[in-house]
Amino acid sequence: MQALVYQPFQPTDRGLACDGVSIESIVEHVGTPVYVYSAHAIRAAYRTLDEAFAAHPHAIHYALKANSTLAIVRLLRSLGSRADANSGGEIRVALRAGLLPAEIVFTGVGKTRDELEYAMAIGVGTINAESAGELDRIAAIAGALGREARVALRVNPDIDARSHPNISTGLRINKFGVPLQEARGIYRERRGRAGLRFVGVHVHVGSQITIADPLRSAAEALVSLALALRDDGFALEHVDLGGGLGIAYEGRPIVTADEYAAAVIPALRRSGLPVVLEPGRAVIGHAGALVARVVDTKRYPDGRQFAVLDAGMSELMRPALYGSYHRILPCRPRHGPESPWDVVGPICESSDVFACDRQLPPLEVADLVAIVDAGAYGSVMASNYNRHLLPPEVLVDEDTWDVIRRRQTLDDVLALEL
Ligand code: LLP
Repeated sequence: MQALVYQPFQPTDRGLACDGVSIESIVEHVGTPVYVYSAHAIRAAYRTLDEAFAAHPHAIHYALKANSTLAIVRLLRSLGSRADANSGGEIRVALRAGLLPAEIVFTGVGKTRDELEYAMAIGVGTINAESAGELDRIAAIAGALGREARVALRVNPDIDARSHPNISTGLRINKFGVPLQEARGIYRERRGRAGLRFVGVHVHVGSQITIADPLRSAAEALVSLALALRDDGFALEHVDLGGGLGIAYEGRPIVTADEYAAAVIPALRRSGLPVVLEPGRAVIGHAGALVARVVDTKRYPDGRQFAVLDAGMSELMRPALYGSYHRILPCRPRHGPESPWDVVGPICESSDVFACDRQLPPLEVADLVAIVDAGAYGSVMASNYNRHLLPPEVLVDEDTWDVIRRRQTLDDVLALEL
């Protein structure tokens, strides 16, 4: 059965609201464009995952790359979440948000020497190494620091996540991890190596995965490796399944947290080991919307009509980068027939399009729209392209709201320049 996913952005008689707080009232104070998040939705999504895995010992390491605004990381920490950090910057953000080094897994291709030294000096929980070479560099650094690094190796099981090619990571053509069949040898060759303590195995086959199969296959492959390593005498402490659980951008049913758990728990039981999960999108995706204002409308002789917003690919890059779909909700839908609109941004690129031929009610200049399901990989991927300023972020909690990141100013940007 499809579990109900909480949707925070709903129409009310005061226009579109986030958890009942009117979007117009927020915009009155902070202007547009602005990211608005629902604390309630974050709590609900976190608990849904946590409860789905209740039958097996687990630790949720929220993937900071999805959205690492401090107030959001603090909120997740208060729920019991740990962190998956993909850079030295994300590790520092996790610490600022109050997480302990031991609660952080450090993942990611291309970790620099500085990042590895820093991670080891503070003692992060686990470093998920991406190659044999990285393991050797970690051993060397650990030796120089007189430390022992807790490591896991990321394997590439050559499994098709059946997601967008740009966010599929588990195929042998992808740059991530080491081929599954080489992993055991890499562990064995380094058994007893000073500075390395092998505590786990890691896999992440892609993001926005909407079916259970690839997640199940990845878990089975990883657990087979863990069992082989146990036979070799490695005292592993966990298996790390990465992230990847998708969300229903188009409203069609997709694999639920419960179905995901049901698909992987049999393999996890065989392993006899606790699981580490690194969800990003499934925790924060539905919780956020980008609210923007219509600054122009125009109609071509062939009938094509455009609504130009004051936000574009500089604020939310996903549609331009992956052709991804986000629902667009007018804050006060006008009366009149729906018709197809191209909803676009103001950036000088033809890819700066949020939606093509989208059926929407009449739109006029100054109308507000919310581009929803933008909590994950939205604000974190925003840029200053065309000298746009990073939008502010607002967190709605119960019936109050706070600015959790102020709008960037041109002085903030120019402060870096000579
Ligand atoms: N763990 C690792 C090692 C990862 O590389 C990722 C995401 C995650 C966990 C979290 O995955 P999630 O649960 O969020 O699917 N910018 C793209 C998504 C890139 C995902 C990168 N890695 C997008 O907007 O769709």
